Amino acid sequence: TLQTLRAALAEAEAGEYAVGAFNVSSIDQAIAVLDAAEAEHSPVIVQSIAGMSAYDNESRWWTRLRGLVEEYTAVPVVLHLDHGRTYDDCVRAIDNGFTSVMIDASRSTDTDEPASFDENAAATRRVVDTAAPAGVSVEGELGTIGGAEAGVSGIVEEIVFADPDQAVEFVAQTGVDALAVAVGTSHGSVKFTDAAGGQRLRLELIAEIRSRLPDTFLVLHGSSSVPADAVSVINAHGGEVRPSYGISPAQKSQGVAAGIRKINQGTDSHLAWSAELRRFLQENPAVVEPSEQLRPAIGGFRAMVAQRMREFGSSGRA
Ligand code: 13P
Ligand code: NA
Ligand code: ZN
Repeated sequence: TLQTLRAALAEAEAGEYAVGAFNVSSIDQAIAVLDAAEAEHSPVIVQSIAGMSAYDNESRWWTRLRGLVEEYTAVPVVLHLDHGRTYDDCVRAIDNGFTSVMIDASRSTDTDEPASFDENAAATRRVVDTAAPAGVSVEGELGTIGGAEAGVSGIVEEIVFADPDQAVEFVAQTGVDALAVAVGTSHGSVKFTDAAGGQRLRLELIAEIRSRLPDTFLVLHGSSSVPADAVSVINAHGGEVRPSYGISPAQKSQGVAAGIRKINQGTDSHLAWSAELRRFLQENPAVVEPSEQLRPAIGGFRAMVAQRMREFGSSGRA
């Protein structure tokens, strides 16, 4: 059942868990996420990034995605635009039936340099002014989360941590429902290089921002753990993924306890998909039937999502 982000995260706040927001770029991946939600009796956020899909026609892709989501009536589902860069990205998503949009105006669309606070707030406010009357939730971003969606090296030095005073001011100026905060994570499949770094999430920062923004829900981006076993399977079957370290499942649970209510994950599901697809193709070199090739990939994706739902505490809540 389609739901707004605000409604889903209000439930999560009451139940003290987080809802996973899983990136999908094809209908098979969306089915994997939604089947996992149904099997886990979990609320879920299905999210798509503009310009990042397996198809050429965005409008058709989003229409099919919306239609698919509507078929899953047993669990609450938020259909969310992830990392909208422009006002136009958000309007297209709203027109295609998304129930939530992220406007990520933390970097200038012209120069890709960090945007000023005022630029970010103005661009975000403009989206809220359009989305709110349409009944669509809005997520904004403050600070700079490290790394890149496409897997370019994310290093901790790139992170500009969220500032609690600015977070309060940003919400007052924009009226966002949810706020992505830079609290120690980094995007993509190449994250941090040392295992001994220990605690990376700034739990005290999460707790402070949360205590000062009781009606705004905090979002953790770049939340993949980059499981070593998935990387090993990929690399044992012809892949070349650089081993690295993300945020551990235990740290994410601590983040949820400190007040994170939405956890964005793309990479871990992609690693699971790639591992199972590579393994199948190498072990079955004569099979050309796509259904046989895709079944293990979809299964790997679904199992990873289901595991995260249990870790985030959302399983059994729907
Ligand atoms: P990962 O690259 O760590 O999966 O993060 C995904 C994300 O933040 C999408 O918005
Ligand atoms: Na998002
Ligand atoms: Zn992100």
